[in-house]
Amino acid sequence: MRVIIETDYAAMSRKAAGIIAKEIRSKPNAVLGLATGSTPLGVYHELVRMHEKENLDFSGVRTFNLDEYYRLRPDHPESYHTFMFKNLFDGINVNPANVSIPDGMAADIGLFCESYERRIKDAGGVDIQLLGIGRDGHIGFNEPGSSLGSRTRLKTLTEETIRDNARFFDNEGEVPHFAVTMGVGTILDAKKLLMLASGSNKARAVRDAIEGPVSAQVTASVLQLHPNVMVVLDEEAASMLSRSAYYIYVERMAEKFEAEAGT
Ligand code: F6R
Repeated sequence: MRVIIETDYAAMSRKAAGIIAKEIRSKPNAVLGLATGSTPLGVYHELVRMHEKENLDFSGVRTFNLDEYYRLRPDHPESYHTFMFKNLFDGINVNPANVSIPDGMAADIGLFCESYERRIKDAGGVDIQLLGIGRDGHIGFNEPGSSLGSRTRLKTLTEETIRDNARFFDNEGEVPHFAVTMGVGTILDAKKLLMLASGSNKARAVRDAIEGPVSAQVTASVLQLHPNVMVVLDEEAASMLSRSAYYIYVERMAEKFEAEAGT
């Protein structure tokens, strides 16, 4: 696992956007797994800038989002569907036909979840999956106790997650209590994982995920089992890690080797 510690949110966002851009440039029809929430906003902003100013081409890119609220219409201002078009898709040249977001309105959610899994497989699997982390250590909406082998399904949100997400709604009563989310097993199938965290309110979850035991109580800890993981943090989110000095040293060495190899 590469743990990259940047000074602040802007630097974290630029770093992560650079990693995603590199993926797209090396594979123009890359399959991106995407996340919503506050954390990736800076990354999406930077990707839109790179599209406009640096010809980053999304025309062949395919995307799969992690999750969507259950029974929130796609045109609801707080749906993840609305979020993705507003913050990324409307600013880049992705083909809307290549965009997949779970359908929280599907009549048969079980069937929909099976078809979502099949569509990811048919696309050749996710090349790089972007992840945020909840204060309870969740990835996607895989709340504590989610099976580490879980697949896309309907999940009940914890009170903490509902409270955290209330900031986007007029009041807490409006926050959906359920979401359709890729499972932990679905996320683990991606070829690369890129998890981001910013701010001191994420420091404990980040420490538990990276340096704690692998446990269904902190679903992000499953990243420790994946062979290709990058975690990009700002200093506040990294503040409770016990091995920061080592992670910083490793990155410095990696940069040196990359410079010498001319990559
Ligand atoms: C969103 C998602 C969630 C968020 C997490 C952090 O698609 O899957 O796991 O990444 O709740 O949310 P923010 O970034 O708003 O702190």
